[in-house]
Amino acid sequence: MTFDTTQHNRRMTHFDDHDSFWLFGYGSLIWKADFPFLERRPAWIRGWSRRFWQGSHDHRGTPDAPGRVVTLTREPGAHCHGMAYRIRPDILAQLDMREKNGYLRALVPVHFDAEQAAEGLIYLATEENAAFLGEAPLTVMAAQIDQAWGPSGSNRDYLLNLARALDELGVDDHHVSMLAASLPGTGTKL
Ligand code: BEZ
Repeated sequence: MTFDTTQHNRRMTHFDDHDSFWLFGYGSLIWKADFPFLERRPAWIRGWSRRFWQGSHDHRGTPDAPGRVVTLTREPGAHCHGMAYRIRPDILAQLDMREKNGYLRALVPVHFDAEQAAEGLIYLATEENAAFLGEAPLTVMAAQIDQAWGPSGSNRDYLLNLARALDELGVDDHHVSMLAASLPGTGTKL
């Protein structure tokens, strides 16, 4: 697979005839939505865990010094909490462009509370994409994130903003909080 997933994502026409649908954000979308949306609600998806396993060459790093950003990995019984946005289908073209470095659209049930759920969309970077980095020791990942910088800003800010946004949602994500606490100069303040 090439780096650019735009063409592949355009072939996923599932929501094209919907007036609106839910996009589930589990990374920067939790604290920053730079696209029009109709509504937003805290939500979760089942059977997935958030991991800093995707390389970022175009936002929080460069091809020579990639950053690390989040993707999802399957984990039976896990819940991944985030923010869901109700959007119109025409917004997807700009999201496809923004997430073209390895992320593919995928369908998931999005849960809002114990009774309410809806079919939704996530952007998912699997280990088959060329930018995938995978697991590494916590201190190695933290050192990489501490150093990386790209067109969207520092990788360190990405991690700390995510940790803060999850904290504000009342979500305890061990992977994210451990990584934030492992950043040089951060200690265990979060
Ligand atoms: C997000 O939820 O912020 C997100 C994560 C990966 C790709 C696109 C969006």
